Amino acid sequence: MPTVAPPEELVRELEVLVRAHHPLLLFETVEEERLRSCLGYVADRVGLPLFTWDGVRGLEMQTPDGGRPPGTHEPEKALAFIEDANLEALFFLPDFPELEGPTATARVKRIYRRYFQHRGQVVLSGPAVRLPPSLEPLFTLVDLPAPSVEAYHGFVQELIRALAKELPVQVALSPEDATVLFQALHGLTLSEVEKIISRAVVEDGRLDRRDLETILAAKRKVIERSGLLEYFPHDQRLRDVAGLARLKEWLRKRHGAFADAARARDFGLTPPKGLLLIGVQGCGKSLCAKAVAAEWRLPLLRLDPGRLYEKYFGESERNLRRAIGLAESMAPVVLWIDEIEKAVGTGEGSADGGTSQRILGSFLAWLQEKRESVFVIATANDISNLPPELLRKGRFDEIFFVDLPSGGTREEIFAVHLAKRNRRADDFDLAALAAASDGFSGAEIEQAVVSALYDAFERDDGSLTTDDVLRELATTRPLSVTMAERIQSLRGWALERCVPAD
Ligand SMILES: Nc1ncnc2c1ncn2[C@@H]1O[C@H](COP(=O)(O)OP(=O)(O)OP(=O)(O)O)[C@@H](O)[C@H]1O
Ligand SMILES: [Mg+2]
Repeated sequence: MPTVAPPEELVRELEVLVRAHHPLLLFETVEEERLRSCLGYVADRVGLPLFTWDGVRGLEMQTPDGGRPPGTHEPEKALAFIEDANLEALFFLPDFPELEGPTATARVKRIYRRYFQHRGQVVLSGPAVRLPPSLEPLFTLVDLPAPSVEAYHGFVQELIRALAKELPVQVALSPEDATVLFQALHGLTLSEVEKIISRAVVEDGRLDRRDLETILAAKRKVIERSGLLEYFPHDQRLRDVAGLARLKEWLRKRHGAFADAARARDFGLTPPKGLLLIGVQGCGKSLCAKAVAAEWRLPLLRLDPGRLYEKYFGESERNLRRAIGLAESMAPVVLWIDEIEKAVGTGEGSADGGTSQRILGSFLAWLQEKRESVFVIATANDISNLPPELLRKGRFDEIFFVDLPSGGTREEIFAVHLAKRNRRADDFDLAALAAASDGFSGAEIEQAVVSALYDAFERDDGSLTTDDVLRELATTRPLSVTMAERIQSLRGWALERCVPAD
């Protein structure tokens, strides 16, 4: 694998940690190779030997004639060696087995005390390293920053040079294509980049436009493998969303500032961070999230709050950090947090108070400080669980209330859904349909159209009429009837806190 210069900020941070005698470091990363080369670089700079460990070869000194203390492939022996040697050296232990049991814990504590006296360091890494609670405070958690754009460039260039030694390679990318390519690679680990690019090149000896789709698809897989975010294909457009005029206008006005954040900043504007949509079920909140991404031509990532929660202490916040990191690696992007009350809610049904408070805290801090172009659209149905901090001014750019559609909007919704099903809206009495669907949500209107279509399909003549839809409406008891009280209280609540979306 080609090597790239390690991120300058990491090198500096590691040097400081060595000099400041932080004996135990922990990196949460799958990028073992890249971390190894960073550590090699730092070891050189501070003039310490580097040992690396794996479960077959054990500890091995990273020099041409590198020594290998025997038997250290056994984790137990490796720790014993480190403790007894008490060396001014860096020990890199990627994917080291869990430090469980009294012997391992005791050894690590002793290593901590001994190595605290000098510049020696033990570095653990892995995607989800779990430490016994008694060891947690001894470790310093360090982030491996994503490679810079230049690092990706350099890496891909070297990779292509290496491939060209084995087969003829042609690179045919316009400057725009190259920008899209590097944007797609951003956020992937270098070993993923290596696999994806090699494959694209080896297939036909070319790296060109046609490979961009493959690369994007690979990226999608990586995102979804995290299990936290879902890559959402979207085909909705804002014109398929009826009503919600004020919300649409707001979005139209903000698009420019989001797309060109640098210019917006120069102009004195803060680029938009995101929206909170609160409202009645089935009235188009989720639909809006999809439509914004489609309209702004951005990928849409959906965060399922339920997936954040894990039973181990600290793991849920870690999941949030990972989800946010992944979303940032896709920037510019729309991050859709559906039913946010489930992630940060305070009432029953949400996770224990402590964890959801911490999740809320980390989320708000990120929202406040975020630099990357991630536009957040959060939706909520249940206001009884919404923590007030979330609603405070300055968190989201705006809080919209999505109510049951008015008469005019209902006409539009009928028109949208009839047209989607190959019917001409002009052939229907939209005013009569709107009048008969007072209190219906968009979802219920869509459902009425679909059910009427089934009736018509069964009949011999097969054509759909206004009467078919009216009949369907007459047999439906809409939410506004079955949940009248809840909707009423939601409206009262929203009146003081939200801007009407329509
Ligand atoms: N304003 C609208 N214009 C067109 N279609 C709509 C509108 N509102 C709702 N619909 C239809 O109803 C479906 C359900 O709406 P959506 O999923 O957006 O509701 P929601 O507000 O997110 O509801 P929930 O709170 O249950 O998640 C949409 O996919 C769409 O077909
Ligand atoms: Mg929804």
